Amino acid sequence: MIKKLMAANWKMFKTWEQATQTARELIVAIGQDLPSDREVLLIPPFTALRGVSETLAGQKGYFLGGQNFYPAKEGAFTGEISPAQLIDAGCRFALVGHSERRHVLGEKDEFLAHKVFYGLDNKLKIILCVGEKIQERKKGLVEQVLTSQLEKGLEKIDRNVSALDLVIAYEPVWAIGTGETAVNEDIVQVHSFIRKKLKDFLDHGEQIRILYGGSVKPDNCGSIIWLDNVDGVLVGGASLKADSFSRIVQA
Ligand code: 13P
Repeated sequence: MIKKLMAANWKMFKTWEQATQTARELIVAIGQDLPSDREVLLIPPFTALRGVSETLAGQKGYFLGGQNFYPAKEGAFTGEISPAQLIDAGCRFALVGHSERRHVLGEKDEFLAHKVFYGLDNKLKIILCVGEKIQERKKGLVEQVLTSQLEKGLEKIDRNVSALDLVIAYEPVWAIGTGETAVNEDIVQVHSFIRKKLKDFLDHGEQIRILYGGSVKPDNCGSIIWLDNVDGVLVGGASLKADSFSRIVQA
């Protein structure tokens, strides 16, 4: 069974103390009730990775991820972090191409493609994020933008990549942090389009998980999570508090 991935992206929030505290509270809030079809992924800032990793030790179904990495083994890359360092801190997953990396930090498709390849080649499971801006949606360019982001983002990897190692997150830029969620019909339509593209590009495209992200909350997760081709969620704001994120995980 492919489990639904319930991912918390804590972005540039929380100190070590706050992150470990939230992780502890989350485990208590969920208790023995982590549904057997769910996995929980916490993606704290780098400074909190080790602490959260220790908090999650021995907890079945909980995983740790990094928000970013630089595609090199080591070297003079001031301010960057390598896949090996993420793994050393306890990570199994890493995000690539989050909207904030694309649009605030200026990362381009070609660089992202290299990161997807390099991360997979260095034993990280990669969550490639894609999504259109509001102007692109208004101009009817959603499918064109997603095709381009997927085609370019996946162009360097083996067609035969395992469905356990790659995840796609659809996060429409206009829904991130705005309180505005895509309506269910749009999510179904876009996820089915992404599924079709994954089947075109990859041998195991049918099984690769597609997450939805963008203003997911406890009160809308219950309807989103059961939509066709929705294999989990990627949550920002509403994942920062254990009470709220535990309700999302169990939605
Ligand atoms: P919000 O849930 O705050 O809209 O953020 C979504 C996101 O960017 C997760 O990666």
